[in-house]
Amino acid sequence: MTTPSRDLATGLVSALSATTTGTRPGTSTGPGSAPTDGPARVVIDLDLPGATISRHLYGHFAEHLGRCIYEGFFVGEDSPIPNTRGIRDDVVAALRALRIPNLRWPGGCFADDYHWKDGIGPREERPRMVNSHWGDIVEDNSFGTHEFMDLVELLDTEAYVNGNVGSGTVAEMSEWIEYLTRADDSPMASLRRENGRDEPWKVPFFGIGNEAWGCGGNMRAEDYAALARQYSTYVRDQGGDPGNTVTRIAAGASDDDFAWTEALMRGVKNLEGRDGEAGPYQAISMHYYTMSGPWEDKGSATEFSQEEWYRTLSRAARAEELVARHSTVMDHYDPHKKVGLVFDEWGTWWNVEPGTNPGFLYQQNTVRDALVASIHFDGFHRHADRLIMANIAQTVNVLQAMILTDPESGALVLTPTYHVFAMNAGHQDARALAAHVLLPEEPAEVDGRALPMISASASTTGATALVSLSNLDAAEPRTLVLDLRGRPVTGHTAQVLTGASSAAHNTPEQPDAVAPTELADVRELEHEGRLEVTLPPHSFATVELQLGE
Ligand code: AHR
Repeated sequence: MTTPSRDLATGLVSALSATTTGTRPGTSTGPGSAPTDGPARVVIDLDLPGATISRHLYGHFAEHLGRCIYEGFFVGEDSPIPNTRGIRDDVVAALRALRIPNLRWPGGCFADDYHWKDGIGPREERPRMVNSHWGDIVEDNSFGTHEFMDLVELLDTEAYVNGNVGSGTVAEMSEWIEYLTRADDSPMASLRRENGRDEPWKVPFFGIGNEAWGCGGNMRAEDYAALARQYSTYVRDQGGDPGNTVTRIAAGASDDDFAWTEALMRGVKNLEGRDGEAGPYQAISMHYYTMSGPWEDKGSATEFSQEEWYRTLSRAARAEELVARHSTVMDHYDPHKKVGLVFDEWGTWWNVEPGTNPGFLYQQNTVRDALVASIHFDGFHRHADRLIMANIAQTVNVLQAMILTDPESGALVLTPTYHVFAMNAGHQDARALAAHVLLPEEPAEVDGRALPMISASASTTGATALVSLSNLDAAEPRTLVLDLRGRPVTGHTAQVLTGASSAAHNTPEQPDAVAPTELADVRELEHEGRLEVTLPPHSFATVELQLGE
């Protein structure tokens, strides 16, 4: 995950390095708003909807890593855990309740070691391989293409398949998309039928390698950009089915490597006019993880000081800065926003839980993780015009998971992060509303950036609006006035998520130590369109508003 040194000599990138984070007028509060007299306020113009927040910003990621696929999703038909064709029923039910819009697979770093033909056909005949990145263990390929697409159908979600550039061939990638999506009697469609699947699947998203600057081949930006063009060319839309077209996602930058994004943007054709599709790839990814310490000692998931709490939340806020700055590079080449930005790995990365395999990246998930997620989503909503997808890493038992399963009993626990996804589900495909946060105090500087104690965002579906509010203050409650303008508010309901401490988390013994409850502390003020809300310390809340005409 370390970012290799790169040539930052280009003019655009040097200029960007000197700028502070930009916020688009009318769509963002951004950190560092000027202090205001009077109570803390969140001002929202309900009648000025902006960009649509794609549901794909609430996407997920499942890699062959630790206990994510095996034990997490897939336990096999013979398991005592209730399953459908080997896939855990309780995990499917929990994720269906979140309406997860897409699932990325098989990696991550694993993707550039993965040869898809090893994962089809009778399971007992599938070749084995070494999962060299994650624990150096033997992978038996029992979960392959058919099992993944079965999972996608059980989840009622959409597939984001990540291909292999680092150690795979162009032909291999080309055949995989043919195998997955072709309807006629082509060689790969016929092979799929021999393996028991008649109808083609839909694969709307396809990744052209992963982290090509590191585990995906240690490439230079220009070298990878050339390969991304070549490989993308052969990830063809198959057989003329207009409903089965693929968005090709080039493997993007880590953190603030804007030169990487710029090299990829230089590789895209057809950006001049408004008409026609960008190509050969239509989107570019980026990755950024939040930790409280350095890479070598990222910090404990559950034992942290107040200083680490604030440092972590400040680093979570950095994600929005990075999205803004990668977007600025993209704007320069692509003013019509034909190329999407895909933030396909984000979330917390802590030291593994004591006693667990260091290669399995198993970590607990506390109220702090919940606030990291809510801060990310606030930033995502503000950049919905460029950001077309985001995928938290990872869905089950790895990094900032939604679900943890007990290795002995198999018991399933929903994490605080899961509840943020659930409470925010109403933002999916809604239109962003600017939420201006005005605080009475100057925000403190934490880890090199101003960190206001309130983070907020909002969206509307027309008849309703959803407001997300995070109180970053580790110790104090915060009272806010929601100043709701432009439409009458005819009703409201609110939920809050917090725990007894900022490190509270759920376990099989205490599965609801951190779970949403009704937020009763919402008062209608005399002045029409104003609600007063008190948020407990270290909490996340959502207020759903019914709107009149
Ligand atoms: O999510 C874990 C790993 O982090 C992924 O495999 C890789 O892409 C990134 O470095």
